[in-house]
Amino acid sequence: MSSFNYNKILVIGATSGIGQAYAEKFIQDGKKVVVVGRRKENLDAFVQKHGKDKADAVEFDITFLNQIPKFALDITTAHPDLDCVLLNSGIQRAFDFSKPETIDLSVINTELLTNYTSFIHLTAAFLPHLQKQQSETSLIYTSSGLALVPVARVLNYCASKAALHSFVLCLREQLKDGAGNVKVIEIFPPAVQTELHDEKHQPDIKDGGKIGMPLDDFIEQSWAGLVNGDDQIAVGMAETAFNGFENLRQGIFHKINNMIKGVAKRD
Ligand SMILES: NC(=O)c1ccc[n+]([C@@H]2O[C@H](COP(=O)([O-])OP(=O)(O)OC[C@H]3O[C@@H](n4cnc5c(N)ncnc54)[C@H](OP(=O)(O)O)[C@@H]3O)[C@@H](O)[C@H]2O)c1
Repeated sequence: MSSFNYNKILVIGATSGIGQAYAEKFIQDGKKVVVVGRRKENLDAFVQKHGKDKADAVEFDITFLNQIPKFALDITTAHPDLDCVLLNSGIQRAFDFSKPETIDLSVINTELLTNYTSFIHLTAAFLPHLQKQQSETSLIYTSSGLALVPVARVLNYCASKAALHSFVLCLREQLKDGAGNVKVIEIFPPAVQTELHDEKHQPDIKDGGKIGMPLDDFIEQSWAGLVNGDDQIAVGMAETAFNGFENLRQGIFHKINNMIKGVAKRD
C-alpha cells in the first residue's frame, strides 16, 4: 500500500468531517498530526483516542488574523519537523439576495474571512518554515467543486472557494520558481456527508448531514490522489467539471502565464 509523502501534518479544521477523517487516515498511515479547531472537547477527544505520541492539538480560531503569526511560530517551534499544512476549515451559509433585508452582512464577512482571507494569512505565516526544510514539504487546500460551478443558494461560499482556487493556482505557479521545495495541492470535494450542511448552521435544510457522498467514500477516493502525489484532486461532480472545462481553462492559464514570464525576461 502506498504511503503519504509527508510525516507530520498540521490539519486546520480537524474537529469534525473531512479534516478529522484525514487526520485519522494520516495516523493510520503511520504519520503524526497536529489537529486544530475551535471545539476543545473534540480536540481533546482526538488526542485521547490516538495518544500524545501521534497527535497534538491546538485550539485556535483562524478568523483572528492578527494572532496567526504567533500561532504559526508556536506550532513550528513545538514541531520543527512539520512538513505539511492542510488548510481545511470552512463554513457554508445560505443567503437570498432577492430579499436584501434578510442579508446579515457580518455573516458574509465571516464566511469570506474563514474560507479565504485566513487561508492567505496562514499561507504567508507557514511558508517560511516550509521553504526552509531540506526535503519536499506541502501546503494542501480544501476548496470545493463549487469553486468551479457555483450554486445560487450559497453564493458567497462559492465566491470564497472560487477566490481560493484562483489563489492556489497562482501560488503553485509562483512557488515553481521560488525558494524551497513546497508542493501546492488542492482538493475539490463534491457534496460530502459532514457537519457543513447541519441544521445548526443552515436551519433551512432538513437532515443536512445526509447530503452528498458518505465521508469514508470521499476519503478513500481522494486518498488515492494524495498518495499518488497528484497536485489537484477532484472527486465526483468536481471531477466532471475538471474533465468538462477546467483542464482547458488551466491550459489557457499556463499559456498566458508563460507569455507574461517571457515578456518580463525581455524587460
Ligand atoms: N461537506 C461538503 O459537502 C464539502 C464539499 C466541498 C468542500 N467542503 C469543504 O471541506 C472543508 C471541511 O468541511 P466539512 O465538510 O468537513 O465540514 P465540517 O464538518 O463542518 O468541518 C469544518 C471544520 O472547519 C473548522 N472551522 C470552521 N471555522 C473555523 C474557525 N473560525 N477556526 C478554526 N476552525 C474552523 C471546524 O472546527 P470548529 O468548529 O471546531 O472550529 C471544523 O473542524 C471545508 O473547507 C468545506 O468548505 C466540504
